[in-house]
Amino acid sequence: MMHSCSQRRRMIRSLCLIFSIYNSVLVFASHAKHLCRPDQKEALWEFKSEFYVHGFHSDGTPVDKKTERWKNNIDCCSWDGISCDPKTGKVVELDLTDSFLNGPLRSNSSLFRLQHLHILNLGSNNLSGILPDSISNLKYLRGLSLSGCSFYGQIPSSLGNLSFLTNLDLSHNDFVGELPDSMGNLKQLTDLGLDHNKISGDFPHVLLNMSELTQIDIGSNQFEGMLPANMSSLSKLVYFDINENSFYGSIPPSLFMIPSLIQLYMGRNSFSGPLEIGNISSLSTLGFLALGENNFNGPIPRFISKLVGLWYLDLALWNTEKGKVDFSIFLHLKSLTFLDLSYINTRSRVDLSLFSDLMSLGYLDLSGINLKVSPTLHLLSPIEILTLSSCNIAEFPKFLEMQTSLSYLDISANQIKGQVPKWLWRLPLLRYVNISQNSFTGFEGSAGIIQRSEILLLDISSNTFQDPFPLLPNSTKFFLGSNNQFSGKIPKTICKLVSLDTLVLSDNNFSGSIPRCFENFSTKLSVMHLRNNSLSGTFPEESIGDHLKSLDLGGNRLSGVLPKSLINCTRLEFLNVENNMINDTFPFWLRLLTNLQVLVLRSNEFHGPISSPGFSLSFPKLRIFDISKNRFTGVLPSYYFAGWTAMSLVIDIVDIMPSRFEGRDSGNLYNSVSMTAKGLVMELVGSGFTIYKTIDVSGNKLQGDIPESISLLKELIVLNMSNNAFTGHISPSLENLTNLQSLDLSQNRLSGEIPPELGKLTFLARMNFSYNMLEGPIPQGTQIQSQSSSSFADNPMLCGVPLQETCGRGDDATTQEQEDEDGEKDQVLSWIAAAIGYVPGVFCGVVIGHILSSYKRDCPNSKDVKPWSSDPLSVLRRRRSDTAEFMEGLCDMNLREETLGQASSVRVVSPHVLLLRDVM
Ligand SMILES: *[C@@H]1O[C@H](CO)[C@@H](O)[C@H](O)[C@H]1NC(C)=O
Ligand SMILES: *[C@@H]1O[C@H](CO)[C@@H](O)[C@H](O)[C@H]1NC(C)=O
Ligand SMILES: *[C@@H]1O[C@H](CO)[C@@H](O)[C@H](O)[C@H]1NC(C)=O
Ligand SMILES: *[C@@H]1O[C@H](CO)[C@@H](O)[C@H](O)[C@H]1NC(C)=O
Ligand SMILES: *[C@@H]1O[C@H](CO)[C@@H](O)[C@H](O)[C@H]1NC(C)=O
Ligand SMILES: *[C@@H]1O[C@H](CO)[C@@H](O)[C@H](O)[C@H]1NC(C)=O
Ligand SMILES: *[C@@H]1O[C@H](CO)[C@@H](O)[C@H](O)[C@H]1NC(C)=O
Repeated sequence: MMHSCSQRRRMIRSLCLIFSIYNSVLVFASHAKHLCRPDQKEALWEFKSEFYVHGFHSDGTPVDKKTERWKNNIDCCSWDGISCDPKTGKVVELDLTDSFLNGPLRSNSSLFRLQHLHILNLGSNNLSGILPDSISNLKYLRGLSLSGCSFYGQIPSSLGNLSFLTNLDLSHNDFVGELPDSMGNLKQLTDLGLDHNKISGDFPHVLLNMSELTQIDIGSNQFEGMLPANMSSLSKLVYFDINENSFYGSIPPSLFMIPSLIQLYMGRNSFSGPLEIGNISSLSTLGFLALGENNFNGPIPRFISKLVGLWYLDLALWNTEKGKVDFSIFLHLKSLTFLDLSYINTRSRVDLSLFSDLMSLGYLDLSGINLKVSPTLHLLSPIEILTLSSCNIAEFPKFLEMQTSLSYLDISANQIKGQVPKWLWRLPLLRYVNISQNSFTGFEGSAGIIQRSEILLLDISSNTFQDPFPLLPNSTKFFLGSNNQFSGKIPKTICKLVSLDTLVLSDNNFSGSIPRCFENFSTKLSVMHLRNNSLSGTFPEESIGDHLKSLDLGGNRLSGVLPKSLINCTRLEFLNVENNMINDTFPFWLRLLTNLQVLVLRSNEFHGPISSPGFSLSFPKLRIFDISKNRFTGVLPSYYFAGWTAMSLVIDIVDIMPSRFEGRDSGNLYNSVSMTAKGLVMELVGSGFTIYKTIDVSGNKLQGDIPESISLLKELIVLNMSNNAFTGHISPSLENLTNLQSLDLSQNRLSGEIPPELGKLTFLARMNFSYNMLEGPIPQGTQIQSQSSSSFADNPMLCGVPLQETCGRGDDATTQEQEDEDGEKDQVLSWIAAAIGYVPGVFCGVVIGHILSSYKRDCPNSKDVKPWSSDPLSVLRRRRSDTAEFMEGLCDMNLREETLGQASSVRVVSPHVLLLRDVM
């Protein structure tokens, strides 16, 4: 019980409390002997047998499979997780939290024979299925927790019949649809937890009729619309969490009038306008106000200074429209322990000493604010988490030397030069350090200076660090050192880091071979990225451990074959060896790696067939398949793409990588390769990028027909089969690729007509059929007609717009002019670095924020600009570039869902970065 309670992030969760109270009363009472009624015992015994008990804790802590300890010859009232009414012997409480139950809860489950249950807690089990209507048979329930049980489907309306319910927790499931109206009957409900589902619809008005509610948590769902104007009926509300939905409009003043309110959690929505508030005096109890990552604009409201009880204030991404901000507003809030003012878009320069009066601050994020940090500054507050990213800081902040509570420091994207001071490593609690994107050249002190610390994470990427490579402490789990000037061999000292999980050394000048030492810690390493160095030799088998999830060796001079030992990496999701000299046949054995999502073999010396008569390849989760520019040969059988499920279905590819660790977002741990055009540096980050699905087999010697099964890949966005020796006709079934945005079949030997059906592919923004032997009229369809003529060039028998040749008897005008134009356009490369949702290790923090919403706000014609739908690319992140430029760039680009398809080339640069070339 304690375990499950503490796991939850909720600050107040009386459900746990109530369960505990019941527990102690009933357990005490149940010491009386032989209470268990046979019918109840039988029901329990049957219930146990309905599930397959299986599983383990990933962190290795011992598991508690409660039902396995039930013994038939023991009184069932003393079984684990059971409490009985001492008088009647009826089972009144069943608590099987986290008991590794697997299997659906059926509507005829014997659970529903335990009619007298008051408390039912099945949280954190795998009951994947529908929540059956018969749940309403348990009509005396007061507390019901089914949190984290993988339920899906609708919330049954029969729940409304559980009229004694006071606590209902359905959080962390996959419930969809709207909340049933019948919930309005739950007049006694005090605590409602529906967070982390996919529930949609407007704000559920039935809640307004449930006047006993003290806690409402509907965060992380898909609610939308405005909040009701009058919320005063919720007169006992203490905790209100609607974080991470799509609510918009203004926040009704009536909400702020509720006198009992302590915590308001409304971040990550689309609320807008200046904030208005009623009678301030009633708000003195408010302790927690999270409004960050909305579309609020205008000055920061002065009334905030009157909320003297505040200990948590998040106004991140409030758009002050470059106005001046009066930071003294915050100085009255003496109880503040958490303050996030990141990216409030102000021109004000702030002296950090202003905050020295806030003596309780433990968390401070002032990213994006132009800061003055005086060398004599002293902050007395015991800051533990400090984020000063993009603050125009030019000198290493000296005051940190006295911040002995500091555990997390992010001073990335500033202009700090020179050496990292040696005292930093003496801060006793420091664990996470991000000094990326500065101009550091080295570390002050002796070679072993960092080894004295207990750093878990060190991100020094995108600086100008030079040799010697630092010696790292044994505690290091994440080391990110890409984009520096390290050279020579990859140091063997890395081999001794027993805890290392993530090693990123891309974009340096390392040479020599990959060290053979990795077997020492091969059991732990899950991310190894060594791309864009000058590594040579073969890849040592022993460097691969079975924890590997992401391996990126692209852009080196590796030769030999792909190591067979990868076959043991059943967790492998990302494999990129592009631009090397690997001379191997197609690694058919990769089909055994069922978690593989990205496979890039581009530009190597792979050869031979990519299909084998022995078996059909099936890559159930693969969404990026790039084997271009090799020497693959042979004919593809028509069923070739039959088992590529992820590309044929909309499935949730779960990002297995934890995005948070130890309760804290880790910030920007990975650098994209920054490409600039007109000063624009851009990166798209978001787990939604898993929609990006592509097949690129171009530049090989594949022959025969294009496999018919390609039309099964209905989710495909980019298909490039150009520059091969494909023959035969283009199949009309390509029309089934309704999501296709880019299709390149150029430079083959295709014949026959371009099927008219392709005119129906409305997203198809870029296509190329040139250099084939196609004939007949070019199909009608706005997308096709808007292509440049070069897309159809060199098909002697093709005619119709956009070619000059009219069908029938046309003249012979060339398309030379057009091609020149295109060539020029190609030179003005507009690159967009885009992150695919696959982000290994740890990633992506609060700092990042929904720039998407700011972007909507700042674009002059925001209505015309359809941003990526709410989830895909949910987060855009700005880098060094100035905000205004960034926003302009985004507007210019008119970033749409089709963007990916418009790119003339797409390259997977690292596990989380795609480069889209020539998007305009
Ligand atoms: C419940 O129904 C399923 C079929 O839906 C059946 O297989 C199962 O035996 C039934 N269980 C009980 C306890 O009746
Ligand atoms: C709720 O209970 C009433 C009366 O007992 C019954 O008629 C109704 O069908 C129940 N509703 C649901 C949704 O189970
Ligand atoms: C709230 O309750 C009132 C009276 O009981 C009823 O008329 C109204 O329809 C209810 N509203 C909702 C949204 O359930
Ligand atoms: C790190 O661990 C290795 C192997 O466990 C050990 O030999 C070495 O002394 C440790 N180094 C430090 C600085 O603790
Ligand atoms: C995979 O692991 C097993 C057991 O550890 C080992 O015997 C086998 O050689 C490994 N396979 C490869 C190809 O390395
Ligand atoms: C690839 O390796 C084979 C022998 O395994 C060799 O015959 C061939 O020349 C190599 N190809 C290249 C391009 O090095
Ligand atoms: C394409 O879709 C049509 C209609 O949806 C269907 O009849 C046809 O069989 C599909 N073709 C393929 C190859 O899936």
